[in-house]
Amino acid sequence: MKITIFGSGYVGLVTGACFADVGNEVLCVDTDEKKIDRLKEGEIPIYEPGLQELVTDNSRKGRLRFTSDSAEGVAFGLFQFIAVGTPPGEDGSADLRHVLAVADTIGQKMDDYKIIVDKSTVPVGTAELVSKRLLSALGERGLSIDYDVVSNPEFLKEGDAIADFMKPDRVVVGVDNPRTKELLRTLYAPFNRSHDRFIAMDIRSAELTKYAANAMLATKISFMNEIANIAERVGADVEAIRLGIGSDSRIGFSFIYPGLGYGGSCFPKDVQALERTSHQHGYDARILQAVEAVNYEQKFSIVKKIKQHFKNELSGKTIALWGLAFKPNTDDMREAPSRRVLEELLSSEAKVRAYDPVAMGEARSIYGKREGLALVETSESALRGADALVIVTEWMVFRSPDFEMIKQELSTPIIFDGRNIYDPDLMEQLGFIYYSIGRMP
Ligand code: UGA
Repeated sequence: MKITIFGSGYVGLVTGACFADVGNEVLCVDTDEKKIDRLKEGEIPIYEPGLQELVTDNSRKGRLRFTSDSAEGVAFGLFQFIAVGTPPGEDGSADLRHVLAVADTIGQKMDDYKIIVDKSTVPVGTAELVSKRLLSALGERGLSIDYDVVSNPEFLKEGDAIADFMKPDRVVVGVDNPRTKELLRTLYAPFNRSHDRFIAMDIRSAELTKYAANAMLATKISFMNEIANIAERVGADVEAIRLGIGSDSRIGFSFIYPGLGYGGSCFPKDVQALERTSHQHGYDARILQAVEAVNYEQKFSIVKKIKQHFKNELSGKTIALWGLAFKPNTDDMREAPSRRVLEELLSSEAKVRAYDPVAMGEARSIYGKREGLALVETSESALRGADALVIVTEWMVFRSPDFEMIKQELSTPIIFDGRNIYDPDLMEQLGFIYYSIGRMP
């Protein structure tokens, strides 16, 4: 099948590469010419395990192409995917500018029947808006061409995106007619193997499903962080509690890891956008507000412990920081807890030596030369002369470090672990002062 994808960001690129890999012809369109030039040269602008190989291989085979010419994009695919960003607007609601601009472009340039597939995360009612924009653009051209607008939210996780696309838990499609539904089912058939994972529903429900999924996952995290905060105060161990409740299959083990709060480009913005949508419809979404408030506070939790330990005297202290990305296996630092931790430490006049296995480039472009902050090239050199180590992102490589070396490098053997990756008993045996989340020091 012929597929056009508008937006060669994270979602668009993964979607394009995976559709091409199962034999479709895919044309990725982006208005950023420099990005398209780089992609044509085989350079991937984002870090995602497996994506480079997939893009290179499918480009070589001629199934995956890139262009900045939107007319070429509109002419190419029966399926016109919209995978552009929906950043938060000033009031927290999703900014639909880019989505609607693509709708206008399609309406201004289409000459035959198209299926417009909304993959961007968009508020309920967006498919109707897209449809109106198409209709009015066609009207201006004095044309009446048939089209369908479909909602097909994505559930990819950064770092696991290829596997998530190739073996999805589900494919949600919001569609209002049986013929288009069957075309979408055929398009997704290669990814719908062991049992039927194709869930078709009305368009508004599909749009809301995406927000509900992210909000539910964010709720699990904030809930667990709240339990961790209670556990600390009553002298219980949240890691034991996690095992105790996760073993109940109704609760499950995933997304109940306490830590420094959720970050990334999705949960924070989607929880906020859903809250705005419900507000606009006259409903006060109190659970969502609480989820956000708990998450906000949680990002400060480890700094509070650092300040308490050093009796609010951070001036002249140096803190080694491991982990800048918002989670492992990505270089993405959007809404990363590390940014809050860093800002708090620097504004308390501490010096910070920070290291991340892949996000150093990203960190450099965010911070440049920042007074008090050293962005260093190895985990060891972050420790040099530091008074304590703080772990912010749970990269695998931090899980089993050379503890003797850590002790030698730090001026005092103190670890503040924001992800509970070490065993407190082992830390005690090794002679560390060890603080973590939801466990007594
Ligand atoms: C999330 C969803 O998991 C995807 O299904 C969705 O498609 C995507 O948002 C999106 O809307 O595009 P992602 O943002 O890549 O994916 O990251 P997650 O792996 O879900 O992690 C989100 C945050 O939650 C991270 O900061 C992580 O550290 C935190 N987290 C996760 C916890 O603090 N505890 C946990 O138990 C799990």
